[in-house]
Amino acid sequence: MTARMLRPEHDPIAPAPAPAVTITVEGAALSGVTGQSIAGVMLAAGHLAWRTTAAGRRPRGVFCGIGVCFDCLLTVNGVRDVRACQRVARDGDVVEFQDETLPGSLATPDGAGAPATRSHSPASHAEEGEGA
Ligand code: FES
Repeated sequence: MTARMLRPEHDPIAPAPAPAVTITVEGAALSGVTGQSIAGVMLAAGHLAWRTTAAGRRPRGVFCGIGVCFDCLLTVNGVRDVRACQRVARDGDVVEFQDETLPGSLATPDGAGAPATRSHSPASHAEEGEGA
């Protein structure tokens, strides 16, 4: 068997261009393509983290990308704890970041569990030099 390369225009099984979808993330409209996960749309827009852990106030986004770690949780259309890497983006979805703030009596003096004070915007990641 010989490997051969086909030009895209001659590929008989080449996928057709996918229709666009638009979701709203924290009030901002983001565009993706049909079939793309919410995490995919957000990563393409530069969002690397969208959740804050209760302990340590650490940023979280996609870690495993296959639905195992639950690091990518966010709120979609008012439903909490949706895994962004598993949920297909649908046109009109409203996505909100999730903050795992502990109740006041459980917050520790070092700030663990305290309300979030940092932004998860793509600009803040660039300023802080965060990676994926
Ligand atoms: S990134 Fe691990 S469950 Fe979504």
